[in-house]
Amino acid sequence: MKLTYFGHACFLIEFGEKNLLFDPFITGNPLAKNIDWQQIKADYIFITHGHQDHLLDVEAIAKNTDALLISNYEIITWFGGKGLHKSHSMNHGGKYKFEFGTVKYVNAIHSSMLPDGSYGGNPGGFVIWGQAGCFYVAGDTALTEDMKLIPLTCPKLDVAILPIGDNYTMGYEDAVLASDFVQCNRVVGVHYNTFPPITIDVEKAKAHFAAQGKELILPAVGETIVL
Ligand code: NI
Ligand code: MN
Repeated sequence: MKLTYFGHACFLIEFGEKNLLFDPFITGNPLAKNIDWQQIKADYIFITHGHQDHLLDVEAIAKNTDALLISNYEIITWFGGKGLHKSHSMNHGGKYKFEFGTVKYVNAIHSSMLPDGSYGGNPGGFVIWGQAGCFYVAGDTALTEDMKLIPLTCPKLDVAILPIGDNYTMGYEDAVLASDFVQCNRVVGVHYNTFPPITIDVEKAKAHFAAQGKELILPAVGETIVL
């Protein structure tokens, strides 16, 4: 697996032969001004919930790449109304086998109104596994005991991608506990430093993880890392 970070909570995972893009929010993010969204090659676009900072560039990238959208029923229906019909809807607790592997849509504690005020269903995260490995994308969420269900119901995680910016989601202290709950000591942190209320001290966050024998990986915007 390879991960390329596009800022905020947007990243691409090269998973075997397929490119999986998560929560595209690039053109609205000044920290991602050097990212050219037209260069992104996505086969699938995953949307965790209905907020603008997770789906602003979905439509443009889907049209540019012909990627298939994966999200909850309400968000997929909303994009259908915009003429995007290459999609697959899921709901919480369900898993589905795609050509690249299995996707499970899991619980998150957050909110999910769509940008025009439409109901976005309940927010979620994804656990994805296949030949290439197994990873968890928490989406925007509080720390929740539901995370303890993941090791009981999914293969062992290689990496967990967790929000760490606080204010709108859990902060890095709670993310350490989340990594305990999901039994994965290797964490990629997202959803921090984009806006003033989610600005954090990254060195402090890394040290906090390290003190508990855990690794907090914070790729630079545009950086690709091998997982
Ligand atoms: Ni959100
Ligand atoms: Mn968000």
